[in-house]
Amino acid sequence: MRLKMKRLGQDETFRAVPDVSGVGGSLVVRSKNPLVLEGKVAVITGGASGIGRATAGVLAEYGAQSVILDIDEDKGKGAVSAITEVGGKAKFIKCDVTSSHECREAVDKIKAKFGRIDILFNNAGVIVRKDVVSHEEAEWDLVMNVTLKGTYLMSKYVIPAMAANGGGSIINTGSGWGLKGGDNAASYCAAKAGVVNLTRAMAIDHGRQNIRVNCVCPGDTDTPMLRGEARQLGLDEDKFLESSGVDRPLQRIGVPRDIANAVLFLASDLSGWITGATIVVDGGGIA
Ligand SMILES: NC(=O)c1ccc[n+]([C@@H]2O[C@H](COP(=O)([O-])OP(=O)(O)OC[C@H]3O[C@@H](n4cnc5c(N)ncnc54)[C@H](O)[C@@H]3O)[C@@H](O)[C@H]2O)c1
Repeated sequence: MRLKMKRLGQDETFRAVPDVSGVGGSLVVRSKNPLVLEGKVAVITGGASGIGRATAGVLAEYGAQSVILDIDEDKGKGAVSAITEVGGKAKFIKCDVTSSHECREAVDKIKAKFGRIDILFNNAGVIVRKDVVSHEEAEWDLVMNVTLKGTYLMSKYVIPAMAANGGGSIINTGSGWGLKGGDNAASYCAAKAGVVNLTRAMAIDHGRQNIRVNCVCPGDTDTPMLRGEARQLGLDEDKFLESSGVDRPLQRIGVPRDIANAVLFLASDLSGWITGATIVVDGGGIA
């Protein structure tokens, strides 16, 4: 079988290669890894800890300028140091995603410094492990505001910047509990289900601006949030994590990088025709 070979230029990576071989196929030698995010600016909310921190690292590892937004200044600066020490590009901006004013200011600062925003990972979230009866209104509001309203606010200010540069990729953080219910997490289940369907609505509204919007739904992942859940429930942390692992087909809980890798795919041009999708990353937990 004779295969046609064509080496693509840097900016040609995704051009369809016409099949001129007459044998139903053509072989393309790519000059550039399509996962590479060189020249792109990525904003990661809740990037000081857990999944967000790992994702800021992975996106920087693949060449992006990561910008971490978080309320935790010490951990945020620590995350930036960890990335820059190994040669990545990262910056921290203190920002509470429940505040319209702080989200707008952060986006303005990023535009002024870097001139563009290509990737937004709406990841900041909090959980309160209570049923509706025991939920205080303030706890309900906190979970909804950080998780759901924060996703709306950041998207509100980032989308015009993305559109001005020809498009971008937004990845919202749902949860397995955005797709099915869970015990003693009423506000969280409601907020995450909201994020899942907000993702679809945003994908429909902004596809014409070449902005893709997808949702990653992690299962139990070893982060300060998951360990905090054990404490809220009065359970032993290690036993809680162990039991979350054995219940799923792949027999372990996630590590933050498991989720970060899925975000990298959704951020990159490899997922160029995927929008409005929900990708579950949970070792088969809700299969
Ligand atoms: N860890 C899991 O098992 C799991 C499972 C499913 C979904 N998730 C989701 O993944 C996301 C990340 O969770 P994680 O486990 O890494 O948690 P984490 O607690 O380690 O990190 C969350 C980060 O969000 C920040 N944050 C909280 N409120 C904020 C606010 N108002 N503004 C800006 N930043 C704020 C925190 O300071 C923290 O750095 C969350 O949306 C969470 O709901 C986690």
